Amino acid sequence: MRLDKFICDSIGLTRSQAGKAIRQGLVTLNDKKVKQAALQVIDNDVVCLDGAQLQLIGLRYFMLHKPDGYVCSTDDPDHPTVFMLLDEPLLDRLHTVGRLDLDTTGLVLITDDGQWSHRISSPKHHVAKTYRAWTADPIPASAVQQFADGVMLRNEKNLTLPAELKIIGECEALLTIQEGRYHQVKRMFAAIGNKVVQLHREKIGGVQLPDDLAVGEYRELSAEQLHLLQIK
Ligand code: URA
Repeated sequence: MRLDKFICDSIGLTRSQAGKAIRQGLVTLNDKKVKQAALQVIDNDVVCLDGAQLQLIGLRYFMLHKPDGYVCSTDDPDHPTVFMLLDEPLLDRLHTVGRLDLDTTGLVLITDDGQWSHRISSPKHHVAKTYRAWTADPIPASAVQQFADGVMLRNEKNLTLPAELKIIGECEALLTIQEGRYHQVKRMFAAIGNKVVQLHREKIGGVQLPDDLAVGEYRELSAEQLHLLQIK
């Protein structure tokens, strides 16, 4: 990898800022001051900027426990964003895999690997997502079959794909869906005449929100979790 690209990918300078730092003599490669941006950096080379060693940042994969009241977009004039909860360099390279509503809590995946997030969100791959929903009115047992058969959402032309509903309490259920249509869970309950009053995402694919990940906290996905989310 070129030296200027190495600097960009480790601390997020632009190519021209990296080139300027190199020309100003602020960069060393294996303890030697270097002036050519096109020099190749290879394994075990040590690059320093202003005396501080730079580490290449590879692709990153995180899970976050989203709190109520946070948006999943990168900026919002009225609400805090989930990215404010991250203490990571090169924040502007990260994005969420799909979005949760402002008032939905629970599992959000965050990455800078666009291909990976595309595969997880793509309707083609049918990655299951499980939500715990609390409703305004009791959930009738007949909803299980209705959701399994698919329901027609307002202003849409196709039935929802088969979804699995487990009724947990009078007004509480676990719903596993294979798509990610806009406000899908709330609209599915609306389609059967009910209203979701609270929504929490517990699982994406084989990855469950861990009990010990407190609201507002995040951590890297483990190798095993990443393996569960490898969708080809
Ligand atoms: N379905 C919804 O209605 N809202 C969410 O945040 C996620 C799924």
